[in-house]
Amino acid sequence: MRLTINGVPRDVPAGDHETLLAVIRERLQLTGTKEGCARGECGACTVLIDGRAAYSCLTLAAGCADSAVTTIEGLGRADALHPLQQAFIEQDALQCGFCTPGQLLAAAALIARTPRPSEDDVRVALSGNLCRCGTYPKLVRAVMQAAEMMRAEP
Ligand code: FES
Ligand code: FES
Repeated sequence: MRLTINGVPRDVPAGDHETLLAVIRERLQLTGTKEGCARGECGACTVLIDGRAAYSCLTLAAGCADSAVTTIEGLGRADALHPLQQAFIEQDALQCGFCTPGQLLAAAALIARTPRPSEDDVRVALSGNLCRCGTYPKLVRAVMQAAEMMRAEP
């Protein structure tokens, strides 16, 4: 199948039954997307599909052939962090980091549709992303900071 991942068309030898999570991690070796529960409960596998946050463990890859998929590898670069990544660092919004890729992408989808979110907007947007380390207050602060940074960008 042909998938567009992080803006790059990729021909992937995957079966119709394979989840987007499996294809991303195992066939494309994009291991920034994490597998937690594998049943739609934790949000660790969150990616963007046409800009909307989605659980890749519940999504068939074959259904994404006409969509743009963004994984954490497509959000920013090591030498040019996305404002969300910068804000997560500055607000110390991660501990083990396992949930972080999913949190970042869920937050990116929120800010794209709501550039000036309230703290409650952030809580709702991240409510499908669990964090065992309990960084929730810092997550909210980081997303609020990132939204402000992005509004200030030219
Ligand atoms: S791994 Fe997909 S929701 Fe938990
Ligand atoms: S930072 Fe460890 S699970 Fe969220």
